[in-house]
Amino acid sequence: MSPNDSPATPEAAAAGHTPDVAAGTAPIITVSGVSKTYKGGFQALKSVNLDIRKGEIFALLGPNGAGKTTLISIICGIVTATTGRIAVAGADINDDYRTAREMIGLVPQELTTDAFETVWNTVSFTRGLFGKPANPAHIEKVLKDLSLWDKKDDRILTLSGGMKRRVMIAKALSHEPRILFLDEPTAGVDVELRQGMWAVVRRLSQSGVTIILTTHYIEEAEEMADRVGVISGGELIVVEEKAKLMCKLGRKQLTLHLQERLAEIPPALADYGLDLAADGCDIVYTYDSQQDHTGITGLLTALRDSGIKFRDLHTTQSSLEEIFVSLVRSPK
Ligand SMILES: Nc1ncnc2c1ncn2[C@@H]1O[C@H](COP(=O)(O)OP(=O)(O)O)[C@@H](O)[C@H]1O
Ligand SMILES: [Mg+2]
Repeated sequence: MSPNDSPATPEAAAAGHTPDVAAGTAPIITVSGVSKTYKGGFQALKSVNLDIRKGEIFALLGPNGAGKTTLISIICGIVTATTGRIAVAGADINDDYRTAREMIGLVPQELTTDAFETVWNTVSFTRGLFGKPANPAHIEKVLKDLSLWDKKDDRILTLSGGMKRRVMIAKALSHEPRILFLDEPTAGVDVELRQGMWAVVRRLSQSGVTIILTTHYIEEAEEMADRVGVISGGELIVVEEKAKLMCKLGRKQLTLHLQERLAEIPPALADYGLDLAADGCDIVYTYDSQQDHTGITGLLTALRDSGIKFRDLHTTQSSLEEIFVSLVRSPK
């Protein structure tokens, strides 16, 4: 799905890629027609098109095995795409690998750090891997931002899980990337640490870093993201502003608390697909809030005509969780 339908270039048209004009500025990452078939023939990604906007927090949300790690590994140049192109701030990740890679920091799903090194050394060393000259002031800032400064001389094996994860982030930020990928930053992390991680990510975002995180926790996408991409079975099913996604796909329910108990829904109201709840004391009507005609006016008239009186009513909007489950169950 895409917000407009007029590809700007023949290449984009060929790749089925429509540029994201809503952002107003050129996207910082452009993924066009990317698919991946692993050796052995398993297709993990099916022609993914995606623009990442500069400065946003983008959540790639999908169940285990959906292709999240595959997609970000391709963007980060760790896995090779079978088809398609990716540009990072205009630099093609194949033709201009170094330029593209330098702009990116990646915090992988698996914790991989040298247990016997100190925090300071491991973070400084990673910066060196990118060919950047030593910059102790930057490393100091990163460690302070991540509340690791008082641990800088500690060996990594002595740190808690949450701290180790923050060391991974510090490593990913050591070469001053403009874009940070966090692959399942809070998987297996307890609720309290998760909150701490979210605070860290928000601070990074405020400092101007574009953030792409993958998650299978709906609440994480709901909490953190400006936009959400839902991926399932290797297909990007929908990309949308978080708020719009909830509004656009969210079904609403109108619950009417009746004055008198009903034994059954009268045949005259059969067309509305009503549910009787709370032991016959509530009528629940489910409707699509985006439709011009929600059917509410007609329903209220029909209720009056049937002599059904209610004493109160309220509406509820489905959560991102419900939307997600319904999307993943019935991919378009
Ligand atoms: N190196 C590989 N070889 C073959 N299949 C793989 C490989 N890596 C991942 N896959 C498969 O591709 C699918 C997507 O995996 P992945 O991108 O890790 O999903 P996610 O990160 O969303 O959980 C899974 O079915 C996984 O088993
Ligand atoms: Mg993964």
